[in-house]
Amino acid sequence: MKIITILGSPRKKGNTASVLSMFENNVEKKHEVERININEYTVGGCLGCLKCKEKKEEPGCVQQDDALIIFEKMIQSDAIVYASPLYCWSFTSQIKPLIDRHFCLVSGAGTPDHDSLISGKPAALLVTCAGPVGGNCDAIQGIFTGFSNYLKLMAKGNYILPFCTTPDAIGDKGAELAGNLAKAITG
Ligand SMILES: Cc1cc2nc3c(=O)[nH]c(=O)nc-3n(C[C@H](O)[C@H](O)[C@H](O)COP(=O)(O)O)c2cc1C
Repeated sequence: MKIITILGSPRKKGNTASVLSMFENNVEKKHEVERININEYTVGGCLGCLKCKEKKEEPGCVQQDDALIIFEKMIQSDAIVYASPLYCWSFTSQIKPLIDRHFCLVSGAGTPDHDSLISGKPAALLVTCAGPVGGNCDAIQGIFTGFSNYLKLMAKGNYILPFCTTPDAIGDKGAELAGNLAKAITG
């Protein structure tokens, strides 16, 4: 299985990166893993031109930036993990443009032909945050649910590590969460 992980944190050695590494170490004995540090890619915001809707078999986005490189890797993969720290109850502004640009992968929304170029792939959400889950992570989970349905992904759950202030605060709970995520994605 080839797994793409997308790190949405601007901090390459931050909390989310630490938990994501635990997941990657867990699965890479048996599976191929490639991480995309979104901070190292240039992804512009969606222009809303709808040109992508003229093409079904390819992304068809008019912006020839790194989003297309990332989408090609995702299309070639067997599973995708979206990892982000919680920023103001949502995804970071580094990963949000990529999320919006997923629009170009979808065709026929609202019709019986609704499909996407990454349809059927197992996908999961990994989040670290400083506060609790309840009353804090509702928006990001709602976005991921809506987004998974729209992309026709096979959603494998939301894996959230609360009270995550420094990498030292991660501890055994991080390893446990990463292990559960590994089981859900590869099982
Ligand atoms: C700009 C900013 C906004 C944040 N917003 C929230 C928030 O809404 N809720 C929360 O629990 N933590 C929030 N946090 C804390 C981070 O989500 C948390 O510390 C996370 O583990 C940082 O991950 P990182 O080290 O991968 O960047 C915020 C942090 C920053 C810098």
